[in-house]
Amino acid sequence: MTLIEVKNVSKQFGGLAALTDVSFVLNKGEILGLIGPNGAGKTTMFNIVNGFYPPTKGDVFLKGQRVSHLKPHTLCKLGVARTFQVVRPLQRMTTLDNVITSAFIRTKSKSHAEEIAIEILKFTGLYDDRMVISKGLPLGKRKRLEIARALATHPEILLLDESFAGLNPTEINDQIQIVKKIRTEKEITILIIEHHMKVIMSISDRIVVLNYGQKIAEGTPAEIGHNPIVIEAYLGEEHSA
Ligand SMILES: Nc1ncnc2c1ncn2[C@@H]1O[C@H](COP(=O)(O)OP(=O)(O)O)[C@@H](O)[C@H]1O
Ligand SMILES: [Mg+2]
Repeated sequence: MTLIEVKNVSKQFGGLAALTDVSFVLNKGEILGLIGPNGAGKTTMFNIVNGFYPPTKGDVFLKGQRVSHLKPHTLCKLGVARTFQVVRPLQRMTTLDNVITSAFIRTKSKSHAEEIAIEILKFTGLYDDRMVISKGLPLGKRKRLEIARALATHPEILLLDESFAGLNPTEINDQIQIVKKIRTEKEITILIIEHHMKVIMSISDRIVVLNYGQKIAEGTPAEIGHNPIVIEAYLGEEHSA
């Protein structure tokens, strides 16, 4: 079953074509990786799928319904939640209050919101940090708090934007386990942007590759790993870096 269909989406920022005629689908239950060199348009695609920007051309469909004109808050109520590449929990709140704040999208009751938050904090391994002010958490836990906040909205689809960036190997392993658990235990469908090739290769069922705003490949991790066009795009990035 197709949950999200991105159809011929283009996004123009002034003279810059951030995305050009990109199409792909996200199927229920899968983990779909979105990769590509810096500036390829990955975050812009998330911003369009979660309603932060309207596409310049093309459309996004959620279960067959056109949602390209909807705002993030509405999409969140419809079950689409995201994290941000730059972590931005409410810095002065405790971990618990941060997650409670997100849970309010599903309930008006303070005690129900707290119940949801506590379940999510246990699920993400942040329960022991519940009274810590968020800005005092190490990066690995702040990234996890981002995920916890998204989970507290009870999404059907979760968009993860570089949730592994800047983490050490132990934190990366913990994070991989959490992402896998989100799919298996919560049955949430995941669209994930990730720079670590090893992570994306081990975690994804399928991968879509963007380069300069265009889709250059789509396939299983094995297919993508052997695709000469993809290898070329990444070599190009290494040469220019
Ligand atoms: N709000 C914006 N205004 C102008 N240009 C933008 C904006 N957001 C992204 N861009 C540009 O669009 C291109 C794609 O950016 P982005 O989607 O963030 O890439 P990625 O996430 O793949 O690194 C880049 O050239 C970036 O500078
Ligand atoms: Mg990005």
